[in-house]
Amino acid sequence: MIDKIKTLISEAEAFHTTSQQDLEAFRIRFLGKKGLLNGLFAEFKSVPNEEKKAYGQAINQLKTTAQDKVNSIKLELDKKSDDQGVFGDLTRPGEPMAIGSRHPISIVKNRIIDIFSRIGFNVSEGPEIEDDWHNFTALNLPEYHPARDMQDTFFLKSDSEMLLRTHTSSVQVRYMEQHKPPIRTISPGRVYRNEAISARSHCFFHQVEGLYIDKDVSFADLKQTLEYFTTEMFGKSKIRLRPSFFPFTEPSAEVDVYWGLETETDYRMTKGTGWLEIMGCGMVDPNVLDNCGIDSKVYSGFAFGMGIDRIALLLHQIGDIRLLSENDVRFLKQFQSAF
Ligand code: PHE
Repeated sequence: MIDKIKTLISEAEAFHTTSQQDLEAFRIRFLGKKGLLNGLFAEFKSVPNEEKKAYGQAINQLKTTAQDKVNSIKLELDKKSDDQGVFGDLTRPGEPMAIGSRHPISIVKNRIIDIFSRIGFNVSEGPEIEDDWHNFTALNLPEYHPARDMQDTFFLKSDSEMLLRTHTSSVQVRYMEQHKPPIRTISPGRVYRNEAISARSHCFFHQVEGLYIDKDVSFADLKQTLEYFTTEMFGKSKIRLRPSFFPFTEPSAEVDVYWGLETETDYRMTKGTGWLEIMGCGMVDPNVLDNCGIDSKVYSGFAFGMGIDRIALLLHQIGDIRLLSENDVRFLKQFQSAF
């Protein structure tokens, strides 16, 4: 009996195969329900008592040998089939790797930053939670001034000085407080206004505002800078300035760029006029300079501000501003850009 088991042990030890089927046959023969081992266990009852110990040890040894054998060959075969999957055919096309795309707002923002950085503007940023001074008072909008209603404001508490900034002009105030002229800076960022959300307006959006302060800065400098910008940004150099009002600039103007009326889209974008309103601008009010510690008798400057979302909607003919903040990948995937 014992000898029979020993032969089986050496047989199991010597076994080797590279085929799944042979391995399975080996497993069934030794370890299967009606296999050799179960047979041997069944015979255990009839073994004389004095031989039971040696017999039991021998069967257990056979069981572990067979089990170890099956496991180790299985591991070898699995590894082989993995290798074939990965390295087997080097001419197979690679797995496509999903690359992301930038958000349309980032694309437009980065283009604007790129254009102004080429003429010496740096980028400045500031907090989205602002105090009354930086968002309003320093900008020539004292308490109870009716022009505060131009921008519906989210106050953090009804009695509080703190608010969500309504424009990034607040960053320019901070910048002027901390830097001496010449100043050339643009301030991109998110701003908040208490407006009903619809396809055309949202309670938050994004702006880039620009500020240039030095000795003898004139309205002609402003106009030249705007022409440079519209040429680089839209490939259109014809602009017009319509008189307007902002508390922090005097004189103030709205800037329209001549888009043309060549295609149906041009008609739609410009409501049939050929002109597209793109930003507000003006000469910085002397009061604002003085509020920020810059001597308005020595220095003058210009400022401008534009909405990034609006420009992104126009350039990409997006009909609903809400799409910009819904994070729908099917929408976002459509914007591939180097910027
Ligand atoms: N701060 C203005 C706004 O948010 C834009 C602006 C900036 C206008 C600078 C003139 C000069 O509407």
